[in-house]
Amino acid sequence: MKEIGKIWMNGKLVPFKDAKVHVLTHALHYSTAVFEGIRCYDTPNGSAVFRLSEHNDRFFNSAKLYSMKMQFSKKEISDAILKTVKTSGLKECYIRPLAYYGYGTMGLTPTPNKVDVSIACWEWKEGESKAGKLTGAKCKVSSWIKIDPRSQPMQAKAASNYANAALARMEALENGYDEAIMLNLHGKIAEGSAENIFLVKDDIIQTPPLSAGGLGGITRDSVIQIIEENGGSVIERDLSRDDLYSADEIFMTGTAAEVKSVAQVDKVIIGDAKMGKITRNLQKSFSDVTMGKDERFLSWLTFV
Ligand SMILES: Cc1ncc(COP(=O)(O)O)c(C=O)c1O
Repeated sequence: MKEIGKIWMNGKLVPFKDAKVHVLTHALHYSTAVFEGIRCYDTPNGSAVFRLSEHNDRFFNSAKLYSMKMQFSKKEISDAILKTVKTSGLKECYIRPLAYYGYGTMGLTPTPNKVDVSIACWEWKEGESKAGKLTGAKCKVSSWIKIDPRSQPMQAKAASNYANAALARMEALENGYDEAIMLNLHGKIAEGSAENIFLVKDDIIQTPPLSAGGLGGITRDSVIQIIEENGGSVIERDLSRDDLYSADEIFMTGTAAEVKSVAQVDKVIIGDAKMGKITRNLQKSFSDVTMGKDERFLSWLTFV
């Protein structure tokens, strides 16, 4: 991690290396934190944060689902996000707002603790989400089952969801795959470890409903809106493993992954093992939108 710029902590910008918390911070022990992952793109008209207000809304909704009393308004947080990016001097970056039950009282009940908020940003590197951008990712259906929405609010982007996701990701990588696909308790497809999933069969684009346990991804929503604006449609329906195996194309969506193609699921080759036409077109359309080249979606960009 290159320590560039400053980190916003409870209203103050502090040097990167000084952004520390106490070891008895509640969230460190009980996973009582929620966060966001946002991208800032280096567009021809300057740096722009993609769908800032939607990410901020999801951030506050996640906090609400964990009964967090935020000491900052939505406006204060979105201003702070822009200020943190500006201070970093980075043209393109990944932004990580985090809200967590802090240091004060130890024990399971989080609410006696203050809710601390931080915002960090760092240099964007394709890194782990690169697999599949060009060639098509190899995915493993995980043996770890997605946490059931009756166990935890899965529409909260909460740290506690990610131990499950990390186990699935590690299992996939240890077995020579690039990414995991997670089933829910009913054996239906939920999502990837950090992406939503879509498939194409006979030119029909399909994705699991959020009731299957996947996060309400902002890229998922963006892609659906782009497809619809371009005259197409997406069907939400429960999908099973055999739908994946027999798909003509599969792609995943996420802030880090953007639109990435899947070439293989378990030992089954998808389509002709290359990126399909619909995925390729969508990748291009999505990139045009994030780069401010599609007038119809300019309102999704907040220029820094
Ligand atoms: C579990 C999970 N599902 C889906 C997504 C995709 O969501 P978004 O498109 O908002 O990044 C992410 C990434 O944030 C994620 O962590």
